[in-house]
Amino acid sequence: MKLIKFADSLPIPSLLKPLWKSKDYSYYEVRMKEVKQSLHSHIPNTTIWGYEGIYPGPTIEVEMGERVYVKWMNELPDKHLFAIDHTVHGAEKDKPDVRAVVHLHGGRTEPASDGYPDAWFTKGFEKTGPFFIKEIYEYGNPQSARALWYHDHAIGITRLNIYAGLAGFYLIRDSHERSLKLPSGKYEIPLLIQDRTLNDDGSLFYPVQPQKNPPGFSPSIISSFFGDTIVVNGKIWPFLEVEPRKYRFRLLNGANARFFNLFLDSGQPFFQIGTDSGFLERPVKVQSQLLAPAERADVIVDFSNMAGKTIVMKNNARTHFPIGDPVDPDTTGTVMQFRVTKPLSSMDLSVIPTFMGTIPRLREPTAKNHRYLQLSEEKDRFGRPFFLLDRKKWDDPITENPRAGTNEIWAFVNTNGDDHPIHVHLVQFQILDRQPFDVKHYKNTGMIKWTGLPVFPEIGELGWKDTVKCPPGHITRIIIPFFPYTGQYVWHCHMLEHEDYEMMRPYLILPPT
Ligand code: C2O
Ligand code: CU
Repeated sequence: MKLIKFADSLPIPSLLKPLWKSKDYSYYEVRMKEVKQSLHSHIPNTTIWGYEGIYPGPTIEVEMGERVYVKWMNELPDKHLFAIDHTVHGAEKDKPDVRAVVHLHGGRTEPASDGYPDAWFTKGFEKTGPFFIKEIYEYGNPQSARALWYHDHAIGITRLNIYAGLAGFYLIRDSHERSLKLPSGKYEIPLLIQDRTLNDDGSLFYPVQPQKNPPGFSPSIISSFFGDTIVVNGKIWPFLEVEPRKYRFRLLNGANARFFNLFLDSGQPFFQIGTDSGFLERPVKVQSQLLAPAERADVIVDFSNMAGKTIVMKNNARTHFPIGDPVDPDTTGTVMQFRVTKPLSSMDLSVIPTFMGTIPRLREPTAKNHRYLQLSEEKDRFGRPFFLLDRKKWDDPITENPRAGTNEIWAFVNTNGDDHPIHVHLVQFQILDRQPFDVKHYKNTGMIKWTGLPVFPEIGELGWKDTVKCPPGHITRIIIPFFPYTGQYVWHCHMLEHEDYEMMRPYLILPPT
């Protein structure tokens, strides 16, 4: 379906109000609901799933250190919007089709509130998964200012639940952030960027792979979903009217599998001030922002000298990154438009700070353990391609078991052609380097033969991270401090079709010795 671009203005998710707020804690309730919502004014409304019945869900904004309780409630209908593949682990025929569990991505959360994939629940918590512990989640928010996001994580159907609309922003604030005098209030805008494909009747289309359906099973999982339409904050190719001043955008790639390399067609730079996990040391001026699924960037764009102009945010990351097809500039190559048409309502006193704070680099010798973890492509029993971590499946015994209070280096040995964004729950880490190696030699002998020098992380990656791009033919090394909790979490590729189909592993943080 061909849709007119820039027909609708960008929605800005509203802030969720707590049901209770005292000096000790805040309490929220969030209901997941199926509703009809307009994704574009020229097509019929689309049935989506939204937290509080809206897609994206309302933004939860908290102060660092604030104790927050959320009761996430599944009030979705009994029938899923999309077909379930029952050959996928955790989504077998004996499981309810409509299951949900919420993960706060990037949050330092105790295991019982982390949204373990097997901790799913149905309407009214009638049925729950084998790992279900409690109904009300607790978030201590011990982290400094940053943009987290909450999204569904139900085992075997995460790709479908998030595609249906189950995602929202969660912003942590602190006094240091306020002291920086960044653009704020209506000049700070979260942008959830995703790709979707729509049927002519306006409904969401999610493909199946009928030609490869194993007998008796329908439909089959696909190896990655790529939509032909870009949606920002739940609107297709929206526009935003801005004043000629600085704006702060909280960019989030919430796509199932698509990478975005964002740039402005005016040639203006982004002043990147933060990563997934808080501020960089200093702003970096970049012409483009490459974001894998689940990665965030905190950027300032200065429209001061642009009064009267329109600027398009574009994308040129290949579909299947990095080796796929170039994007179509007319569709997936276009994200949204800024119109500098509003009068300046007050003097712009916001600043692009020169320094946000020191980030001590973790040194390699502090690591107690070095794990080499292969990212490999395999074939399942039906001949369908899928991906594994360390050549193990979700149900294999736990092998990653760091001790609380220690640092470890995890080296992701990517032997296939995709760039995989690897996300580790609970922790933030630093990227050490990425080094090319001989993939064939590794596959034949298990030995690493370097084919080039280690590549230092991009300057915009030199802060704390919770998701790391692992390019093909490279070993990507990160150093992770494991604390403060012990217990069971997961790590996985954040391309949702990969995550749902075996590219996810449990890991266990052991008590300190
Ligand atoms: Cu964004 Cu395991 O999640
Ligand atoms: Cu992957």
